[in-house]
Amino acid sequence: MHVNREEPRAYYIPYSTSENANSGKRGQSPYYQTLNGSWKFNYLPSVKEVEDDFYKEDKDVKGWDDLIVPSCWQTNGYDQLQYVNYNYPFPCDPPFMPIENPTGLYVREFMVSDQWESKEKYVVFEGVNSCFYVWINGTFVGYSQGSRMPAEFLVSPYLKSGKNRMSVMVLKWCDGSYLEGQDMWRFSGIFRDVYMLARDKAHVRDVFNKQQLSDDFQKATLSCEIETTGPIEVTVELKDASGRIVSLGEASIDGKGSIPLVVNNPKLWNAENPYLYSLYVYASNEVLTFTVGFRSIAVQDGVFTINGQAVKLKGVNRHDSHPELGGTIPVNHMIKDLVVMKQHNINTIRTSHYPNDPRFLELCNKYGFYVIDEADLECHGVYSAGPFNILSINPDWKKSFMDRMTRMVERDKNQASVIMWSLGNESWYEVNHIAMAEWARNRDTSRLIHYEGAQYPRVETNPNEESLDLVSRMYASPAEIEKYALDDTNSKPLLLCEYSHAMGNGPGDLKDYWDVIDAYPKLMGGCVWEWVDHGMKTQTAEGIHYFAYGGDFGEKLHDGNFCIDGLVTPDRKPHTGLLEYKKVIAPIKIEAVQLAEGRIRITNRYDFIDLTHVSVHWKVEEDGVVVQQGYLDDSDVAPHTESIVRIPYELPEVSANRYFLTLTCKMKVDTLWCEAGHELTFEQFELPVERIEAVVEPSLAPIHVTQNGHLVAIEGFDFQHEFDLYDGTLTRISKHGLQLLQSPATFNIWRAPIDNDAHLKPKWLQEGYDQAVMRVYRSEIIEQTENSVSIGVDFSLGGYIKYPILHGKSIWQFDGTGKINLQVNVKVREGLPFLPRFGLKLTMPQGTEEVEYFGFGPQESYIDKQHSVKKGKYLQTVDELFEPYIRPQENGSRFGTEWVSVSNGQGMGLNFTSDKAFSFNAAHYTPEDLAAASHHHMLVRREETIVHLDYKMSGVGSHSCGPELAPQYRLEENEFEFKLVIRPVFKEDE
Ligand code: GAL
Ligand code: MG
Repeated sequence: MHVNREEPRAYYIPYSTSENANSGKRGQSPYYQTLNGSWKFNYLPSVKEVEDDFYKEDKDVKGWDDLIVPSCWQTNGYDQLQYVNYNYPFPCDPPFMPIENPTGLYVREFMVSDQWESKEKYVVFEGVNSCFYVWINGTFVGYSQGSRMPAEFLVSPYLKSGKNRMSVMVLKWCDGSYLEGQDMWRFSGIFRDVYMLARDKAHVRDVFNKQQLSDDFQKATLSCEIETTGPIEVTVELKDASGRIVSLGEASIDGKGSIPLVVNNPKLWNAENPYLYSLYVYASNEVLTFTVGFRSIAVQDGVFTINGQAVKLKGVNRHDSHPELGGTIPVNHMIKDLVVMKQHNINTIRTSHYPNDPRFLELCNKYGFYVIDEADLECHGVYSAGPFNILSINPDWKKSFMDRMTRMVERDKNQASVIMWSLGNESWYEVNHIAMAEWARNRDTSRLIHYEGAQYPRVETNPNEESLDLVSRMYASPAEIEKYALDDTNSKPLLLCEYSHAMGNGPGDLKDYWDVIDAYPKLMGGCVWEWVDHGMKTQTAEGIHYFAYGGDFGEKLHDGNFCIDGLVTPDRKPHTGLLEYKKVIAPIKIEAVQLAEGRIRITNRYDFIDLTHVSVHWKVEEDGVVVQQGYLDDSDVAPHTESIVRIPYELPEVSANRYFLTLTCKMKVDTLWCEAGHELTFEQFELPVERIEAVVEPSLAPIHVTQNGHLVAIEGFDFQHEFDLYDGTLTRISKHGLQLLQSPATFNIWRAPIDNDAHLKPKWLQEGYDQAVMRVYRSEIIEQTENSVSIGVDFSLGGYIKYPILHGKSIWQFDGTGKINLQVNVKVREGLPFLPRFGLKLTMPQGTEEVEYFGFGPQESYIDKQHSVKKGKYLQTVDELFEPYIRPQENGSRFGTEWVSVSNGQGMGLNFTSDKAFSFNAAHYTPEDLAAASHHHMLVRREETIVHLDYKMSGVGSHSCGPELAPQYRLEENEFEFKLVIRPVFKEDE
């Protein structure tokens, strides 16, 4: 696995003074020299084309390309961009690799400072994919593999003062690639930083700050276990966050030694209040610095705890994924992710599925995140070829498995944010994993060990999850995890290492998961799959930017848009699913106690901090207009406790209007990740005011009805409608001569399949849901008076080949004001898959751009994705209703709508109401348009506006990888009735 690589050690940069160490900037150290920058680069499609002398000192490389390090070949136009999930993109024949192994040759000249003359010099590669050979001035230095772990080489013997040359040969594939079969774009090259370090001959090589907290947390001991390369006096100083020294010690160490430090009444670290001490290690001319966060991680009586407190992990899985740089992640980009996560109440990150840049963990210490640090190990691809355990049971591979664990643990062992070591992902579970777990438990007793694959049966009979501290599952349903929690024989906490697959429109099951997780102490939370859509920013020949996914670069083997499954877009814009997550995991919960008296309950769901940093604003709205408001008195509700508060609003006893109470919790202070005023969460309740329904007198305005063949003209004072008896539908609505319908109204059950419909879609298509047409059996005027006319229609909707999907009876009643009352009763054929939706679809003319509604907003909502929206009155454009998913699909629906008006800019249009809240949507695309486009930029925006008024729209769930849509969110009633009132309006007059 390596030649001449140094033993792994903790991550640090040696500085010369505590001042330059405190800057946190590596370039401030005189002992650090970056080798990032422009390298000469030569890409060869096969290693066989490499010239034997390429690494020689006098090799002429002037004609080579220039490539910035760190970067990935594929984002610079070399090799092939390729996204694959678990299949290996090469023949599965371990440990062999394809003969045609793409190769990148790198050459760089660099100066070595004269001041480094007497020092030992090392070069560190933080990440090279997949393996590399290094030469300096023509002499071979070493070899390493393991893409996301550092490799350090001693280079003093090969360097001269002044100008030197480093040559590196990187191969795309090596036997290690069998262990790097994660679901992602396959990038290659020197993709993380490269730098040199100058060290004193006798220096501190490694530091392990082992911490121990007393049972009452009143005393912390820090045993600084130090390894040196020679005899040396070492002094250590622990400072608190204000810079005050709280403990110090010293020792002469030659080889291994330990310096104990003690802190009385330590301030503890946690994600909510990430208090960090700083440890300075002085030895000879060097200062090394480490942050120290005191915290204890344990399982107590089956409950996961941090500092003795039960904690729920509200997490995400995060890949290193940059829309332009691929796997290369600059520090500002890391910070951007962490800030967006903090702003959405996330407290945990699983570094799926490999260790990240060490600075990422330092940022997690500082911003406050619990990290599940995962070894760079996934051999999912062997599963497609044969037995899944072929590598994990094979003793020849044990060293490779161990290498990935030891290098991660050694590098990250001092990072407070790391609370668990993960043995990797999807590689079955066998002896090689057990060796990894045992080694890690022995080396570091202060963290838990995680591995989801341990649930699979082993060849030997050892109980499976024995060497692990918790039980981990992916995509188990809420019912399954509840079953686990209810079974007393289960003594370990359960983590959902992946859940609520966030692909496309979704996830729709977050609340259901959290209702269960909150109810059972044994359930420790989980990490949504996943944080970010891995779209690569690219452009068409015409220069239109878009995010590409698998297959867009002509790669042979790919997994399409399965990498577009994040809570944020590739450029980190929150999807509506992230807003939903933010609400569901919010640190404050507000519930109604007695709304008539203004009594509510506030629960502090933080684990460690009270609510003194939060201000709670309340307001009462009467039909969307604020009528009373104020702030709640400050309350310092302690963590995991609740308080009952009285809000001083006054309510009328009866009213024709509806009253809503909205409470908004905002930050009072600026933090690293937000400004004062940032909204943490909200809650909303409808207030109990007895409703006097406004009595609607039937219209006495006269109506004129004329039948001409199958066309019925219905006319009044200022309107002209038309009904086609042959087609059984409304064909024309007009008011003051303005046409409001562009084509006949139709009943509709189809939606552009969302990614979460993928498994159901073939069944829907088989039944013809996508092409259901109306068949009319009977259509006639059934009642007519001077002021109204009713038309009854018996119909069915069906595709081809099969019996009709549903039968319906509709009554269209028109009155003298131009109002249309539709009532439709539907019977769905037994045994069919549930319907995507049922509703009326109207096409309104060009210029129909304004939507005003009383319902949930401002963003889209579905029956199972409606916790982050607030009920109110919204004025939006048709384009604002639209959610641009990278692969177009059903989007933008508004669940729970009370009324909506869709009009032109002058307010002339149609108003819709129903006896029950309904879903609506207005868009410049039909479901067919959305379904036919593979990418957002391929959609052609229609001028007209397509309006859907849905009795119900089925939920979205997370079935693309998770459980089926829960029954309560499906439209699977066999019989139902839908009433809709359609009124042509000139809004400005009403
Ligand atoms: C999991 C896997 C992830 C990802 C996900 C689907 O099984 O661990 O890496 O592939 O499924 O998006
Ligand atoms: Mg996989």
